[in-house]
Amino acid sequence: MEEVIENKFIAIKSHINGAPIEFDFEVKTETISLSAKSKEVIVKNLYVSIDPYQLHRMKSCSSSQTTIYLAAPVQPGQSIDTYGVGRVVASGRPDFAKDDLVVGLLAWGEYTVVEEGRLLNKLDPMGLPLPYHVGPLGFSGLTAYAGFFEICKPKKGENVFVSAASGSVGSLVGQYAKLFGCHVVGCAGSQKKVDLLKEKLGFDDAFNYKDETDLNSALKRYFPNGIDIYFDNVGGEMLEAAVANMNKFGRVALCGVISEYTGGGKRPALEMLDVVYKRITIQGFLAADHTKNYGDFISTITDHLRTGKMQALCDISHGLESIPSAFVGLFRGDNIGKKIVQIAHE
Ligand SMILES: NC(=O)c1ccc[n+]([C@@H]2O[C@H](COP(=O)([O-])OP(=O)(O)OC[C@H]3O[C@@H](n4cnc5c(N)ncnc54)[C@H](OP(=O)(O)O)[C@@H]3O)[C@@H](O)[C@H]2O)c1
Repeated sequence: MEEVIENKFIAIKSHINGAPIEFDFEVKTETISLSAKSKEVIVKNLYVSIDPYQLHRMKSCSSSQTTIYLAAPVQPGQSIDTYGVGRVVASGRPDFAKDDLVVGLLAWGEYTVVEEGRLLNKLDPMGLPLPYHVGPLGFSGLTAYAGFFEICKPKKGENVFVSAASGSVGSLVGQYAKLFGCHVVGCAGSQKKVDLLKEKLGFDDAFNYKDETDLNSALKRYFPNGIDIYFDNVGGEMLEAAVANMNKFGRVALCGVISEYTGGGKRPALEMLDVVYKRITIQGFLAADHTKNYGDFISTITDHLRTGKMQALCDISHGLESIPSAFVGLFRGDNIGKKIVQIAHE
């Protein structure tokens, strides 16, 4: 007899056009069959990723929504897809079997019915904890790796500045830059985060941007010889100040501009003469365009994690119901490292 279960998932109640609050979300329930149809795979979700970019998908309108399929708009009441790790419960595909560990596009829910064409791969954890495959070995990890090596094009000894440096992407970028032989300074939003950057992650220096009244002079203090590479996770006034402190032929990797996502932050007014006369390159990028680097990225990071040259920071909340606060917390700076929600026991 066909087994049917209730699947709880998180949805938005209506589009979110400012800073998200927990009340914007609700737990919904649907009924799903545990007998997979042909070409379907039913996955029990174990760990799901919590990412700032989801906010653009939740807005009634954002220029990002038509760029790539991962950025497609999310409708009120509907399931929200996300990167995650799960275990196969039933499979209508020959390449997946019950109990296989998988990684791919799952959902902020207890189960995902993965239809043909949706990203799903078998996961060999390679002896590493499963949350690592959502964080440093997942999209955040690829973002940091491709962003730093492909977009920043580092040279040994260069001065690197990383914003949101204790976050998922930033914490990895700073460590890659240090291992590569750069001088690295990060900024973050609390003293605890600053201490972690210097004491645990090996940054040469770090500061709490919330304590600074003048970001331009703060960066002059931390970079008396100027910035060669700015890995930007925040945009806004920090981008403005970083460009003002860049050296000739400096590179800015525009990874994200979180200070502008909720609509309240100041937009940057870049001194474009600096960009021209210092021949600065400012390049936006998406990790999804760098899947060709995937093999190199995985072998590099697994080696660094195994040998202890790099630290993985995973910030894990527990239970489906914790997803709204985990997500909202990204915009308050609650997380240290990759924000992940564990939905079920391994
Ligand atoms: N291009 C791509 O393919 C790609 C892929 C993944 C992520 N991203 C982008 O990369 C950035 C980091 O993402 P993540 O997943 O690693 O998140 P994360 O850094 O782990 O978490 C977000 C952090 O941003 C900081 N923040 C929040 N509001 C801020 C504000 N108004 N001003 C300055 N900092 C603020 C907070 O840290 P503090 O305590 O330091 O403020 C917070 O912990 C985001 O902009 C994201 O959209 C881009």
